[in-house]
Amino acid sequence: MATKTPGSSVQETRKAIVENLWMHNRGWEELAEEDPIVPVSGKGARIIDAEGRSWLDVNGGYMSVHAGYGQDEIADAAAEQMRKLHYFPQGTAAEPTAQLAAKLAEMTPGDLNRSFFASGGSEANETSVKIARAFYRRAGHSGRYKVISRQDSYHGALGLTMWLGGSSQGSTRADYEPAYPGMVYAPQPYPYRCEMGGETPEECAELCANQIQKLLEFHGPDTVAAIIAEPVSVPAPVAVPGDEYWPRLREICNQYGVILIADEVITGFGRTGKMFAVEHWDVVPDIMSVAKGIVSSYLPIGASIAREDIANAFAGGPDTRFFQHVLTFSGHPVAAAAALKNIEIIERENMVDNARDVGAYFLEQLTELKSKHAIIGNVTGLGLLLGIDLVKDRESKERFKPSDGVAVSLTRAFEDRGLILRPGASSITLGPPLIIENGDVDEIVTGIDEALALLSTEMEL
Ligand SMILES: Cc1ncc(COP(=O)(O)O)c(C=O)c1O
Repeated sequence: MATKTPGSSVQETRKAIVENLWMHNRGWEELAEEDPIVPVSGKGARIIDAEGRSWLDVNGGYMSVHAGYGQDEIADAAAEQMRKLHYFPQGTAAEPTAQLAAKLAEMTPGDLNRSFFASGGSEANETSVKIARAFYRRAGHSGRYKVISRQDSYHGALGLTMWLGGSSQGSTRADYEPAYPGMVYAPQPYPYRCEMGGETPEECAELCANQIQKLLEFHGPDTVAAIIAEPVSVPAPVAVPGDEYWPRLREICNQYGVILIADEVITGFGRTGKMFAVEHWDVVPDIMSVAKGIVSSYLPIGASIAREDIANAFAGGPDTRFFQHVLTFSGHPVAAAAALKNIEIIERENMVDNARDVGAYFLEQLTELKSKHAIIGNVTGLGLLLGIDLVKDRESKERFKPSDGVAVSLTRAFEDRGLILRPGASSITLGPPLIIENGDVDEIVTGIDEALALLSTEMEL
């Protein structure tokens, strides 16, 4: 039965959450057993809920609120554009859309000069893979359709992107079989759990890259269109590859004529302490997917940015057709205006350097917790993208299962300490706004320390 239009009281909002809302990642039976947090305003890294409590958002939305909450300048830029021209007639582009494309061409490495806009990360990756496949079709290599991705990578939730990557801790897509054709899976270069047996980050990087080469040889290079990878992948919990990995990927792609897609949806716009994470290794991918930090989640927008030699296959001259791919909200002027202002703020406020410096301090502080808590198997991170890998036993590195209840206990303990930080079944990943300071880090680390101590007592570890 339909609920009436909710009023403004917290109880009515909570009723609507439980009865009518289909929330990401959470079931309403679970939500009905608690008083769900109802955020109503935010400033910096903190939000205020409908009952006036203040929370520190350690997840930064979905690792996506780079410039923090309450940036009035972004709101003003969006409102101004909405009043002036909220959309555009077919076959035209509004000013902020064109300006954002030019800005991305200027700030991304190499000749990544042409942007196709999307509404988020999944659409950006879906677009990137379609460009790669169509590129080879147009070049007369119609047999190149396979895409290599890595286990423990995440690239999106749509028809194609949901089949890229995937969790090694149990399938999350069993409901949606059969899989999209042409998916090939490679190992994740996560040094702590190197599937290829590497014992150092360097060894793991080399073995995992070599495995991609072997997969290419096995499948036949002329059947593979693209390799897609996040420079630093989150689900593992945070796999920072050895320095050899990305240069080797570039080399392999050059050798076999395969398109290299860097998924910078999480890592882009400063999260890892460089504007784009591939810059840590001086690698220029053929296509880069971005979303999240491009607009700090003020509005939905993403982009697939292609190098000139790829994009020119779609230039639309007498011999080429334009890209057969239409998304109504692609290049939305209001989102583009917000993104331009957001990027201006990230640059002006040196948030990339802050992510590098505060991230280094954060990693140091979390690493110190290792000596206090046997449950911490590994601490990992680059800039303000950090992870804690939780284990039942350090020797075996055995992970906790969802039924062990680690996530439920930790979430409660974090909430008791004013932290919004949602852990996984056997890991904690952290991606706060890029504006946090060392004092915020101390508050978060103290919260994690106390929560892990409670958990260890509860579980008799
Ligand atoms: C690396 C990566 N790629 C793609 C996506 C999908 O982005 P979206 O949720 O905006 O569709 C995500 C989302 O978390 C991501 O982390």
